[in-house]
Amino acid sequence: MMERLILAAQRSVFPRSKSGIPGYDELVGGGFHKGTVNTITGSSGTGKTVFASQFIQYGINAGEKGMIITPSESSEYLKREMMSSFGWDFSAMEREGKLSIVDVTDPVLRLQKSIDVDPVEFLINFRKLVERKLTEVKPARLFIDDLTAFFMAVEAPFKVRSLTDDLFGVIRASGVTALITIGTAFGTNQFLEYGADSATMLSRERIGNNLIRSIFIMKMRGSKIANSIRVLDISDEGIAVSSLSPYP
Ligand SMILES: Nc1ncnc2c1ncn2[C@@H]1O[C@H](COP(=O)(O)OP(=O)(O)OP(=O)(O)O)[C@@H](O)[C@H]1O
Ligand SMILES: [Mg+2]
Repeated sequence: MMERLILAAQRSVFPRSKSGIPGYDELVGGGFHKGTVNTITGSSGTGKTVFASQFIQYGINAGEKGMIITPSESSEYLKREMMSSFGWDFSAMEREGKLSIVDVTDPVLRLQKSIDVDPVEFLINFRKLVERKLTEVKPARLFIDDLTAFFMAVEAPFKVRSLTDDLFGVIRASGVTALITIGTAFGTNQFLEYGADSATMLSRERIGNNLIRSIFIMKMRGSKIANSIRVLDISDEGIAVSSLSPYP
């Protein structure tokens, strides 16, 4: 009884946003905390973009406005990929005003990535852009696809840390629930994970001659998490967490 009361109290303190990934919310006590920044880390091809796109797609189907910011590849590419893999029509959602896509490669935003631009200055401008867009659009869900490339150019680790805190602070202040994907190739992922409210890791396990997709939760502040590695499935329906572990 007491336990149930405490649980109910926790729920009202930290309302949750359902991930839309079958099997995931059970691992983290019901979904992402609303108004938090959550990282999805993994090497190339582990399913980061699919995971976060499904989070956005699910939200839109539930009437929650979405925003996608694509720093690393053009938004056209992302739209085509999600359409051809799963039939998620981000272009139509955009036309209907349910989704706002911010393409950082868009010249109108004058946020050109160039080796001539000081990376710190660039990240400060990027943060301002994110702040402005969140104020304008007021989405319930945000997905930033792969921040790694931006931070990799910043040499001093303490700067990476403070720039991360600034960016994440702006996102939290807006009340949006955010998923940020990060690659593992350059080692900057740890700074981003430290600064985030939760961190989920996607990977591949080598079992005999087979590669099996896997997922585990590294942390979620203010929540109990399942301490086990699970199999992650990608199919025409999207991404789903299995109840099975990759290891017997
Ligand atoms: N319909 C589908 N059924 C099964 N697997 C699929 C399907 N569509 C895409 N995939 C797989 O999903 C993976 C794509 O994952 P995703 O693009 O999310 O990776 P990522 O972690 O974002 O990689 P990167 O770091 O390169 O951006 C690919 O390996 C692809 O083969
Ligand atoms: Mg990707």
